[in-house]
Amino acid sequence: MQSNVVTFPSTQAEAKSTPTNQLPTTDYYDRAEQQFIQLLETEDLDKKLAAKPSIASDFEEALATAIEVAYTGASGDDCAHRFLQRVLYRINRLKLFWYDDLRRYTNERSLYLRTVRDQIEEAWQEWEAAQLDVAAYQGIEDISQALRDRCAADVDPPPSADGLFYRDEVGEAGYRRLVAIGSLDGLVEASQLSRTLGGVPNEIQAVLTRLLLEEYGGGRLGRKHSSHFTTMLEDLGMQTEPEAYFDLVPWELLAIINHSFLLTECKRYFLRYIGGLLYGELSVPSGFRNYQAAGERLGLSASAMSYWTLHIKVDELHGRWMLDDAALPLVAQYPDDAWELVFGYDQQRLMSDRASAAVARSVREAEQTALTKEARID
Ligand SMILES: [Fe+2]
Ligand SMILES: [Fe+2]
Repeated sequence: MQSNVVTFPSTQAEAKSTPTNQLPTTDYYDRAEQQFIQLLETEDLDKKLAAKPSIASDFEEALATAIEVAYTGASGDDCAHRFLQRVLYRINRLKLFWYDDLRRYTNERSLYLRTVRDQIEEAWQEWEAAQLDVAAYQGIEDISQALRDRCAADVDPPPSADGLFYRDEVGEAGYRRLVAIGSLDGLVEASQLSRTLGGVPNEIQAVLTRLLLEEYGGGRLGRKHSSHFTTMLEDLGMQTEPEAYFDLVPWELLAIINHSFLLTECKRYFLRYIGGLLYGELSVPSGFRNYQAAGERLGLSASAMSYWTLHIKVDELHGRWMLDDAALPLVAQYPDDAWELVFGYDQQRLMSDRASAAVARSVREAEQTALTKEARID
């Protein structure tokens, strides 16, 4: 009997030997990414790949190489991380609807894309988990107290060096870079939360729905949080299409977005997602206060910082909802798995700190470039 199982070219291909002093260049990964973009938009991708595996060979070689370099080597090569997070993002974003050409979604359920996604996620998630002592979380005796202690420490921490840089020093070029990078998530914010709401009704589901409704402006576009981001971009004379500034986004921020896709798509990780969302909501006001202060110091209009202002107001409350009405009730409902809430919280904090540092580096670079240009003109 003819098998109807589609066989794919191996995405587990052995990575070519890449001594650390000869790491592939950005150009190498960019070419592979271009091939991947073509695959994404190929009609009947799975069938075409089965007939002609070579259409993916450059991409697959780069994929195997990047996984080895990023997750098994000690180099922490940025180009490899960037390539992998961008590929993963391009697959994950198909889960959202962008009101664009319907043909772009032709491979949304492609088995090949799923294989690529799983291959990256498996290696990446193992690498991420290894940064924390996962076993230690299972030994936490009082999970509720552990969550309360973390929230108390993170709601209004002492200002970091980067926080002070935004508050006291950043110029307009740096501020614009910050807004450009933030727009990738800001223009579609809370989209992943929407994927967790279907299912049995209870008090936790109700509070998550309330949270989504607030983020979505109660169904009024002008009040949607993302609309405040659009206003901010418009006021600064910047592009308002989602993903317009994709190329400026550091891999560390893409990792947070991709992580959120993974946790919300897999119900097994629901507790980790809630722990992460708790940190996300709760920690926003203290970070955004520095961005708002920067906007004020630079003499920008209220609408050029409206997204920050709104969140400083509402996310303190959202953080309390997440702790009191979602995380703590889940501790009672899932006593054996509740440590995953704390793990999810800490992992989100770790990834956020890493992304914040990368964004601040990019903002400083934008400042430096602007200063150099000014000096040339003078
Ligand atoms: Fe929001
Ligand atoms: Fe919020």
